[in-house]
Amino acid sequence: MTQLNHKTALVTGAAKRLGRAMALALAEQGVQVVVHYHTSEQEARAVQADIEQAGGHAVLCQADLSDTGQADALVGRAVALAGRPLDILINNASIFDEQVLLETTSEALALNMQVHAYTPLTLSRAFAAQDRLVCGQIINMLDSRVQDYDKLHVPYHLSKRSLMALTRMLAMDLAPRVAVNAVAPGLILAPAGHGQEYLENLAHTNPLNRYGAPQDIVEAMLFLVQSEFITGQVIYVDGGRHMKGHMYG
Ligand SMILES: NC(=O)c1ccc[n+]([C@@H]2O[C@H](COP(=O)([O-])OP(=O)(O)OC[C@H]3O[C@@H](n4cnc5c(N)ncnc54)[C@H](OP(=O)(O)O)[C@@H]3O)[C@@H](O)[C@H]2O)c1
Repeated sequence: MTQLNHKTALVTGAAKRLGRAMALALAEQGVQVVVHYHTSEQEARAVQADIEQAGGHAVLCQADLSDTGQADALVGRAVALAGRPLDILINNASIFDEQVLLETTSEALALNMQVHAYTPLTLSRAFAAQDRLVCGQIINMLDSRVQDYDKLHVPYHLSKRSLMALTRMLAMDLAPRVAVNAVAPGLILAPAGHGQEYLENLAHTNPLNRYGAPQDIVEAMLFLVQSEFITGQVIYVDGGRHMKGHMYG
């Protein structure tokens, strides 16, 4: 397994929730973390403070990743802020709005495709183009429901399925210098606007009959970024939920 000490990582959407957990976990392993955020400046500063209090290194980088120009520029800005090339890229930033198929608008589809597909693509290309990159690691955050049909979140679902396809396409095209893998969470944290009962009510739908914790995601991510011979892989961290259900009902 590769040692992470002295490496540098860019984690998008790292101010809160799973992005925060991954940023803190990488910093604990000795990784300098570029904490990207969009609107959550205060929370991002708290992540930076937590990392620095524990003896680690973190820098902050704000960008709206629904904006092509800002997405295209992010890796260059992150490298300048970190003062050295990136070794790890975690494409985590995400939106999760309800919209069914018959009401799906071009605006919602374009926004989701931008944040979940174009942004990871442009960040990955810029990441791979760095001069001094030795053996880079990219992790794309999917959703275990890419295996079935999330009827309530159609633009999200379509764009995460695109990111799943991109994971394998990038794994082929960026090899041998960069490994590209994905983590597909299931029930881990309740979506915005829902409490813990959301997870408790759905836990029984998983073969393992429970919901997961951010630490489950962290462990899968750490395993992948330290692996030396895995690329193009998706790890479902979902209590087995991806094996259930049918694509079209
Ligand atoms: N939570 C789960 O149980 C679960 C389940 C399945 C899949 N996932 C996947 O795992 C990843 C993390 O999940 P999460 O629930 O922790 O994510 P989240 O809270 O929904 O979003 C993470 C961050 O994305 C950032 N973001 C949103 N729009 C952005 C934009 N236009 N530009 C830049 N950043 C933007 C936000 O940053 P700011 O707050 O700074 O604005 C937000 O804090 C996501 O990719 C998600 O799809 C999570």
